[in-house]
Amino acid sequence: MTSWAVNPDARVLVIGGGYTGQRFAASAAAAGARVWLTRRSAPEAGNADGLQWLRFDPANGHHLTALPDGLSHVLVTLPTGSDDSDAALDHLLPALRQQPLAWLGYLSTTGVYGDSGGAWVDEDSPTEPTLPRSQARLRCEQRWLASGLPVMSFRLPAIYGPGRCPFEQLRQGSARLVHKPAQVFCRIHVDDIVGALMHGLALPPEARPALLNVSDDTPCPSSETLGYAAHLLGCKLPPLQRFETVAASMSPMALSFWADNRRVSNRRLCQELGYRLRYPSYREGFAASLAEEQALAAAGSPRAAAQP
Ligand SMILES: NC(=O)c1ccc[n+]([C@@H]2O[C@H](COP(=O)([O-])OP(=O)(O)OC[C@H]3O[C@@H](n4cnc5c(N)ncnc54)[C@H](OP(=O)(O)O)[C@@H]3O)[C@@H](O)[C@H]2O)c1
Repeated sequence: MTSWAVNPDARVLVIGGGYTGQRFAASAAAAGARVWLTRRSAPEAGNADGLQWLRFDPANGHHLTALPDGLSHVLVTLPTGSDDSDAALDHLLPALRQQPLAWLGYLSTTGVYGDSGGAWVDEDSPTEPTLPRSQARLRCEQRWLASGLPVMSFRLPAIYGPGRCPFEQLRQGSARLVHKPAQVFCRIHVDDIVGALMHGLALPPEARPALLNVSDDTPCPSSETLGYAAHLLGCKLPPLQRFETVAASMSPMALSFWADNRRVSNRRLCQELGYRLRYPSYREGFAASLAEEQALAAAGSPRAAAQP
């Protein structure tokens, strides 16, 4: 049987070597693959951790004049521009079409479902994005799916993991404990995104769904997750504020996160495709993230503080 998985013969390009892209790249490199990643700043001298960096920033004139040869797997993590631009779609599609790709993973967002009033949504639910950035994202996702490449789109809720938990805000006293009745949020640990990507790409092409939600089992209010983070740190929570009283003081971006209320089903990923979540809830995920942050800090790694 043909193996589609990332193995030592694989040649992997991550377009957008940011938070999730780097975690995926590290996993692919650990499987023995050759891995290239792009970012907008100039690559540093040398190739740390066996990863090879390429500069890709077409908005500032830094194009990839040639892609590495013989790419088997590509992951695209770029955000969508407000004008519906997607630097990879707009600049790399002809070059990607020349590659012998077995799989292209595209990171999308569960924002494409819009506001379900707290009801569950799955991949067959209508896409009725409310936020302009989610509307733009849906249009880019549709362009990728229509590209003729072997695309799987992974729809993500809030991404968390080491460096992306509320620990630092709690320590600094900048965390806000806000309650909006019946409002829930969905989230996913970055390593479960990587796990779901690896699980999806290893499926034979005919078994791969075009759309896949990657969300954990535990939609819940943000006050609950903040409470648990404070418990792990052994620190006090800030005073509870009612959403109606603080909404006027929130930035438009902060406010937009409260606009939609939905529960995202992972039934297709976990039941139909058999993926087992490493972190079914924020409880295991926050504990593991804190342990990793503390281990990096103890080792004096700049990554402990450098995560976005
Ligand atoms: N964060 C969340 O909670 C969340 C939730 C749902 C979906 N998503 C989506 O999931 C994807 C991955 O998220 P992430 O947090 O891992 O992303 P991230 O850390 O921000 O990484 C994004 C990568 O894209 C590159 N990039 C951004 N704009 C670019 C442009 N115009 N041209 C070329 N490269 C560009 C960045 O380059 P530099 O390294 O040079 O900055 C970076 O490498 C994103 O598309 C995000 O919108 C995120």
